[in-house]
Amino acid sequence: MEKIRFTDWHGTFTVARPENTSYLYFPIAGERGLKGCVTPNLGGDSMLDQETFLLEPVSVSNLHNNRSTRNFWVYVENEGAWSATGNSASQENVKFTRDQDESQVTAGLMWHTARRVSQRHRIKAEITSFIPFEENVELMQVRLENLSDHAKRIAPIAAIPIYGRSADNLRDHRNVTSMLHRIRTTEHGVEVKPTMSFDEKGHRENKKIYYVMGFTGDGFSPVAFFPTVDSLIGEGGSFTHPRVIFRQEPGVPAGTEIMGREAMGGLKFPEIPFGAGQTVTYTILIGVTEDEKEIERIAEAYRTEHQVQEALEHTKNYWKRKVNVRFSTGREGLDAFLAWVSFQPFLRRLYGCSFLPYHDYGRGGRGWRDLWQDCLSLLFMEPDDVREMIVSNFGGVRMDGTNATIIGEGLGNFIADRNGIARVWMDHAFWPFKTLRLYIDQTGDYQILEELAPYFKDAQVCRGEAVDGTWSVSVGSQQMTRNKEVYRGTLIEHLLIENLCAFYEVGEHNIIKLRGADWNDALDMASEHGESVAFTFAYAGNLSDIADMLEQYEKRCSVHEIHVLEEILPLLEAGEELYGSPDKKKGLLCEYGLLCQKKVSGNKKQIPIEGVVKSLRSKAKWMKNHLRKQEWISGASGEGWFNSYYDDHKNQVERFSVREEEVRMILTGQVFAVMSGTAEPEDISKITKAADHYLYREEIGGYRLNTDFRELKFDMGRMFGFAYGEKENGAVFSHMAVMYANALYSRGFAREGHKVLKALADTALNFEVSRMYPGIPEYFNAEGRGVYPYLTGAASWYMMTMITEVFGVRGESGDLTIMPRLMAEEFGPAGKAGIYFIFAGKEFMVEIENSERKEFGSYRIQKALMGEQEIPIGADGVVRIPRERIDALRNSVNQIHVFVS
Ligand code: G1P
Repeated sequence: MEKIRFTDWHGTFTVARPENTSYLYFPIAGERGLKGCVTPNLGGDSMLDQETFLLEPVSVSNLHNNRSTRNFWVYVENEGAWSATGNSASQENVKFTRDQDESQVTAGLMWHTARRVSQRHRIKAEITSFIPFEENVELMQVRLENLSDHAKRIAPIAAIPIYGRSADNLRDHRNVTSMLHRIRTTEHGVEVKPTMSFDEKGHRENKKIYYVMGFTGDGFSPVAFFPTVDSLIGEGGSFTHPRVIFRQEPGVPAGTEIMGREAMGGLKFPEIPFGAGQTVTYTILIGVTEDEKEIERIAEAYRTEHQVQEALEHTKNYWKRKVNVRFSTGREGLDAFLAWVSFQPFLRRLYGCSFLPYHDYGRGGRGWRDLWQDCLSLLFMEPDDVREMIVSNFGGVRMDGTNATIIGEGLGNFIADRNGIARVWMDHAFWPFKTLRLYIDQTGDYQILEELAPYFKDAQVCRGEAVDGTWSVSVGSQQMTRNKEVYRGTLIEHLLIENLCAFYEVGEHNIIKLRGADWNDALDMASEHGESVAFTFAYAGNLSDIADMLEQYEKRCSVHEIHVLEEILPLLEAGEELYGSPDKKKGLLCEYGLLCQKKVSGNKKQIPIEGVVKSLRSKAKWMKNHLRKQEWISGASGEGWFNSYYDDHKNQVERFSVREEEVRMILTGQVFAVMSGTAEPEDISKITKAADHYLYREEIGGYRLNTDFRELKFDMGRMFGFAYGEKENGAVFSHMAVMYANALYSRGFAREGHKVLKALADTALNFEVSRMYPGIPEYFNAEGRGVYPYLTGAASWYMMTMITEVFGVRGESGDLTIMPRLMAEEFGPAGKAGIYFIFAGKEFMVEIENSERKEFGSYRIQKALMGEQEIPIGADGVVRIPRERIDALRNSVNQIHVFVS
């Protein structure tokens, strides 16, 4: 079995014989919308959006059988045809035998080079694929080298099937839509402009032109073309055994027009002598545009080998510079792994949760949770724009504390769901505060709390339980006042509405209702009586943390009052007399819902911060007590944990049993019990012990999401329909595992947190088990295979946890504090570990020196230097650099040395 080898600290890696591992693919994308993936054989697809696929859409299950993809043929006179991408019937036949091509993939951020040497022809091909970051064109540069000791004659043919339509047409009218194609050959390639986008909901005129062009290394055009699939594969032929290649048929000239066929970017280059040791280069360009002139421009811009090489360097540097955080630890491969993890949030932003072969669902949009999660990582990587983004995102909150779920392009653009399907994810209101708090910690910008944002409005009211019949799309999707003005409230008000409404929406056990689902999207069948204990913990944590934040705000900004819409006062004023009664809580929430279901008064009342803080604290305190009393499950000796859910039959979902196979435990509840500060240290010890016992499997990535329930549980959700060990049913689900680590670190359980992160990284890096390229996958399945790679919220959290908890460099109301929680093994050979990051617009390189290599727990910070100057260490052992001092820094990179022993 091959291994991944890293060649630099930006994560560049190589792997030999990659096509002998299933399901591998690599993302390449640009900033203008074009994105896609390549497999070791250059399979994979390419698209702008759901409507605009250049190459045929693939799902992971047909990724490796689908041969209608990028190919590059080399016909060698007297020897026969060879596919430089490894896509021919004869290569398939010798796979796993001694005659298999030698092959290797080398890849770095957004570029991919596939190398292949034919044993038979002694020709080496090196194909580099990338998208110049500012363009909508994929470049494929093919370099051929004659490794044999004699001259040959070769005739290369590029063969890129052009799908050129919406992904929906894969099954729906695949044949009919090919009749819309208008194909023509130009001097440089093949263009397809379908006449319309074909859609039963309404056909539209199409303006997009899909194209495949090609040049020789010195800029010459192909000599002939095969513009349709039929013309290339021939009667009875196939993609892996195309008739024209084997028969060396002539093709058609430039200026040919063909209608109504499946299109093919078949480009025949001149036949040339190919001397021993000689190298020749070709470039293939695969793109889409609405502007004919752009094709000409692109053809000129990427015509020669030299131009393409320059664009490649440019693109490599662009993406490298984007990743604004770098780690240097003592663990082999870990730094490169972290480089990929830190890059993943960019991929998530570009691909949404669709458009890579495992992610074969959705239409490219991002959800509410993703929106806020992406902000977390942007706070470290592109902090400049985050303020505006946060303020705009709050505009998606409805007056009833729920939020828009369809997120449009651009900032703050939330779209009303015309189908009127009400689905409330009860965790949604939890995330904005998490992100806002990190923002304030990093920047000290408490003023952001006073920013005004509108509220989202559509027909859904009373948390999706009723419909406002007076609303229609034409009214617009912003909440109005009775004076017909757009109503705007402060971010504080938005936070209060989100978290207080959640507090009141409880089920029979006085636990917040599960509704459509929570973080776990697959808990979607308990909307009537289901309750999420897990997120009740989470909201309890939010309420007390919001109180803390408001206190700081009061102190730092010398304000003592806030202004809130008068309608929300009862939500704040209701006190303990109500907390114990689910009915009264729901009643109050219902009254509030009715008050603001159409238009709001717009009247704001001034209230003292002190009172708000008191109200939030009393609610949080009540919740935490209630949860600790009601939900604790005692396990075997020294073990215990919290129940995470109630099902639609109102039963607790988790349980202890002396029969091990009957134990039901879910990680989610534990994560938020710990993170919210509800679990006391003695509880945490029991929880970690139980999690180690029932959920931990080191060899498959660590902590599974749940034990095997061995039941379909139609009263909980589709997750129980998944095979155990897949997705939300008992996989090692990275996002939740990382949040578990984060929670443990934040409560001082660093060693336990480290165990979580280490198991994930070790498994990902163990190619033999994970069979994935570097990075953190959405989950590891029961065999430890890393699946759904690249697009996962886990990446943001992993990165954040490494920075703020493991290295312990974090903002505290805008000051920079340093308190490492690194384990001895995380220091390099010289006892050093380092992190490069941006804080307050300044670059920092912090090096932690543990020359005696002491274990975590037995070292303390002894001394800290910034340049030559000593930084004082607080009584709490933390290094703290005040904001004013940071603002005054003028160095390009500020070196900080922290000595621990
Ligand atoms: C995915 C979804 C996320 C959801 C999770 C669990 O996780 O994107 O919103 O909470 O499944 O259902 P991800 O792939 O982001 O790790």
